Amino acid sequence: MITIIGSGKVGGAAALFTALKRLDKEILLLDVVKGLPQGEAMDLNHMLSEHGIDVNIRGSNDYSDMKGSDVVVIVAGSGRKPGMTRMDLLKINAGIVKDVVENIKKFAKDSIIVPVTNPLDPMTHIVYKVSGFKRNRICGMGNMLDLSRFKQFIHEATGHSRDSVQAMVIGEHGENMLPLARFTSVSGIPLSSILPQSKLEEIVKSTREVAAKVIELKDATVHAPGNAIATIVGAILRDE
Ligand code: LAC
Repeated sequence: MITIIGSGKVGGAAALFTALKRLDKEILLLDVVKGLPQGEAMDLNHMLSEHGIDVNIRGSNDYSDMKGSDVVVIVAGSGRKPGMTRMDLLKINAGIVKDVVENIKKFAKDSIIVPVTNPLDPMTHIVYKVSGFKRNRICGMGNMLDLSRFKQFIHEATGHSRDSVQAMVIGEHGENMLPLARFTSVSGIPLSSILPQSKLEEIVKSTREVAAKVIELKDATVHAPGNAIATIVGAILRDE
């Protein structure tokens, strides 16, 4: 079973993409807000029925329902508002994440945890410290999302199919992320032989800054993080 703690926009999107990819038969949406996870689950199940996908999504306000979870995704907490950095959320979200992890220890002690709550890197460290889990059972979702943006900019700049872009982003899910332009290829051709250095630098800068622009325009990023979560959960469950 996959549990997603936090049933707001990103949690709902994560459940959507996880279900569409058929990553598990059971998905649990948890939230402290009464009715929110239950309503989200109903809405998603209606969509899945039209698709003929037999993945069952449950909504709950009770942490004990996550018993037996293989993967637990932590999305709970506040998202940044226009003009904020991810680090501005540190104080607000640290306490929330600590409380969530105490419940994971109690009800899903054998799970693998995927922190998403920002600021992602410090939150992942809190999860590691508070859970006492081995480090290979904690996988923060950050660079997978950065990679989706990096690939979009490469697709736009080269005109090559998105499917032909091989790239990687490492490091902090924040201003210091490191899109690895030097190790990027498009249809097997090194990116550095297709685009000038100045364009590569512009793409790296845009990758770092674009989330803030999306938040300025629509107040939150939703589909890209939701999908990136499902990609990581899939890699874990399928041992890829
Ligand atoms: C973003 C948030 C999830 O990059 O950190 O969209």
